Amino acid sequence: MDADTALRRIGYVNLPAQFEEERAEIMQAVEGVFRRGDFIGGEAVGKLEAELAAYLGTPHVVTLNSGTDALILAMRALDIGPGDEVITPPNSFVASTAAIMAVGATPIFADVLPDQNVDPAAVEAAVTPRTRAIMPVHLTGRMADMNPLMAIARTHDLAVIEDSAQAVGSTYDGRMSGTIGTFGCFSAHPLKNLNAAGDGGFVVTADAEMAARIRRLRNHGLINRSDVQEWGLVSRLDTLQAEVLRIRLRHLPSVIERRRRNVAQYRDGLAGLPLFVPPCRDIEFNTFHTFVVQTDRRDELQKRLAGRGIETTIHYPVPIHLQPAAAHLGHGRGAFPVTERQAERILTFPVNQFLSASDISYICANAREFFA
Ligand SMILES: Cc1ncc(COP(=O)(O)O)c(C=O)c1O
Repeated sequence: MDADTALRRIGYVNLPAQFEEERAEIMQAVEGVFRRGDFIGGEAVGKLEAELAAYLGTPHVVTLNSGTDALILAMRALDIGPGDEVITPPNSFVASTAAIMAVGATPIFADVLPDQNVDPAAVEAAVTPRTRAIMPVHLTGRMADMNPLMAIARTHDLAVIEDSAQAVGSTYDGRMSGTIGTFGCFSAHPLKNLNAAGDGGFVVTADAEMAARIRRLRNHGLINRSDVQEWGLVSRLDTLQAEVLRIRLRHLPSVIERRRRNVAQYRDGLAGLPLFVPPCRDIEFNTFHTFVVQTDRRDELQKRLAGRGIETTIHYPVPIHLQPAAAHLGHGRGAFPVTERQAERILTFPVNQFLSASDISYICANAREFFA
């Protein structure tokens, strides 16, 4: 083996390297919060909201303590609840469906396309008189096919709640992820491209009244210190997390650029192998929260790469409709064949911004050797 294939350890993420890159800025910001003691509702929260609004080109950003709460509170603001249906893909992180369950509505699954995003034709077929919203998920950082989805929403007078948890900074037809639908819901989980030092999230909307309502709902439904307008929850983003996210928002374009560069190298390095890598459409700018390939020999390949020190993951091994918690929805195996087939074939390669060109050639060389 040449130098490029001598055994190394390549992790799926590298949060310590991220900290080293930002140590001085983070430590100074954290110290400021402790000095002031403005742990909740500090100035940094409002500043972050304004900076996110400018970055995304949207009028209203409400920070929250998770992406899951962003989905829940978007549906609360739309008064979606028992008896209502929300259409969503079954191959997402469980949070999208969990949020629908949390507001007491019914998730209606629509199968996906080869690129893992929801199939607009399946969404159209799933619309009933009880449908209130479509919740597309921009899985892997690639945006769902929003033009046909928005057309379906207009025809049937439905809200669109974009699950943009994995797609901050992605665009489709010149528009930022999260700003096309009624709401865009984002996660700032530590493994996301724009990541807090713990849980965090935010919701964006062009509707001022809905934004104001979510602001109330994130703080017990209080309209001032003592009057409760409606029952809410506690879902404020901590000032510490806002400080971290303000720093990381400044670095986000570079993070995205480095991840895209990694994927470009993967595309060359893996070319010709029996691996399906969804092509990029001209209409989209993909930020590669994850880099997912599809192969019939997934388990063997994962094992081989692990033996060579390369950590890969599977997003997600169990489709949501086959989760034990979803049994009452009555979908057996075979209900959503594209999703189920992908669950057996998908493999997520490391794509984080700290990989070197030589790390990626090492991974590609090992994949090539596996298929040789
Ligand atoms: C597609 C998707 N939706 C929703 C969420 C929920 O975000 P959070 O973990 O911040 O609640 C996540 C991430 O965890 C996600 O990947």
